[in-house]
Amino acid sequence: MLFPPTLPSQLRQTRHLVVFTGAGVSQESGIPTFRDALTGLWAQFDAEQLATPEAFAADPELVWGWYEWRRGLVLRKEPNAAHRAIAELAQKVPRLTLITQNVDGLHERAGSRDPLSLHGSLHRPYCSTCGRRHRLPDGLPDLVEGGARLPPPECSACGGLVRPGVVWFGEALPGAAWEQAEAAVCECDLLFSVGTSSLVYPAAQLPHQAAQSGAQVVQINPASTSLDSVCAFNVRGSAAQVLPELVACAWPAV
Ligand code: OAD
Repeated sequence: MLFPPTLPSQLRQTRHLVVFTGAGVSQESGIPTFRDALTGLWAQFDAEQLATPEAFAADPELVWGWYEWRRGLVLRKEPNAAHRAIAELAQKVPRLTLITQNVDGLHERAGSRDPLSLHGSLHRPYCSTCGRRHRLPDGLPDLVEGGARLPPPECSACGGLVRPGVVWFGEALPGAAWEQAEAAVCECDLLFSVGTSSLVYPAAQLPHQAAQSGAQVVQINPASTSLDSVCAFNVRGSAAQVLPELVACAWPAV
């Protein structure tokens, strides 16, 4: 057992649990995290270099190709035991708010309803000129080994370039999701920070706000992060290992 023996009973007594997730929660589904080294065409770039409005303006084919590659990858992967344990937790505790920085849709596919998606979604592109939502063709996008540039589609309303539905560096987070996330962290009694490097703000401030409001913060991450000192416990393990075990210990099958 990687977590302290008191954690399951604390979880059982929690009234409002916030689960705050990052790319590490999808790592065991086979999706590289943002700070993993990239391969193929993408090896020349940091993920952060491809995730800006400036990058899209300078080279839309490169940026659209990168996001279509990621979308093709995540559609070929399945939610893992960590995503499923989080969906199960929502059935166990009186209230659970799931806040995610992930854009892969795996929480929803595991059965979590209405996660607060602070960084948008790979599956909801829209026009960069008029904002109209763009419907992606059914079926899987090709997954070219090593990646490929791809021209973005044109908006059916105004002819503008369609862009990925994700939040880029320098852009505001979706207002309603952010407001609900801030309210939840101020009200919760326990927050799990799972699989995030805690480097990207404003999202990374949420666990700090929870701690300042009196909640206990527990981090589940095999590596240490800048959040370590704020946490009541740092559980050094993988999300797909720790979360199901924690749920099973808190609510043992009869
Ligand atoms: P990162 O790639 O920065 O961090 C992933 C974290 O997951 C690291 O701390 C790893 O140690 C941890 N990790 C790896 N495998 C794990 C596992 N199996 N179980 C648990 N933890 C594991 O990803 P994020 O923190 O999500 O933003 O990155 C935050 C934001 O930066 C992303 O949403 C994205 C990115 O650039 C935008 O695109 C706006």
